[in-house]
Amino acid sequence: MNQLKPLIAANWKMNGNNALIAEFTTKFNASVIKDVDVVVCPASVYLESFKRQVSANNSVIQVGAQNLSDKLSGAFTGEISTEMLSEIGIDHVIVGHSERRSLFGETPELVAKKYQTALASNITPILCTGESEQQRDAKETFTIIANDIDAVVDLCGIESFKNGVIAYEPVWAIGTGKSATPDQAQEVHQFIRSHLAKHDEEVAAGVRILYGGSVNEKNAAELFKQQDINGALVGGAGLVVEKFMSICQNA
Ligand code: 13P
Repeated sequence: MNQLKPLIAANWKMNGNNALIAEFTTKFNASVIKDVDVVVCPASVYLESFKRQVSANNSVIQVGAQNLSDKLSGAFTGEISTEMLSEIGIDHVIVGHSERRSLFGETPELVAKKYQTALASNITPILCTGESEQQRDAKETFTIIANDIDAVVDLCGIESFKNGVIAYEPVWAIGTGKSATPDQAQEVHQFIRSHLAKHDEEVAAGVRILYGGSVNEKNAAELFKQQDINGALVGGAGLVVEKFMSICQNA
């Protein structure tokens, strides 16, 4: 981990409920976690009440959304706009998670539009990218990741990474218990940073790159020792407050 302030985010996916929100709020309140940005992303129906609770408790937890529409308003049944997220004080949003790309057909271009839309409302996008096992075996990892990042650079410009976050999430490591090794993760994180540096070295040095994929309270410390890993995007372990707090403490 270099000098950038670490960011640890929990992606609850389609899990969690009011009881879990209350538990996170209470237990984080009683903890002494500092010098790390903590973001929890519940399902959208819980965003407003979670946000209210953390605000009322002056909590270290920031609340993020898991997705947003690339459209500003209109006849888009089931979608959520940046204006709605802004109105309830949400300041982070995950874009381009591999589940959205593979299950909901989100293309790099659509994800780039969502990234742009979030930034336009001063919401920090957490841009996910990562290769499948098949792509890794075919040695396509860097091509896939460069393609996802270039779609954002093309649409929003390299400067947009001053206000965004990148999460490297190898698909083969998500929910499998098979995390990338610290060396494997570092290799890709370094690639991402050097790819951005071709456009602008300062922006590349300042962007936080999170690792995601079977991060837990046991492997977090070793991952965080890597030079280009600036935090984590946590799925399963982010649903268990003790595990998630331990990951935050390791940062
Ligand atoms: P797991 O931590 O459960 O592997 O999930 C990672 C993830 O997809 C976070 O967005």
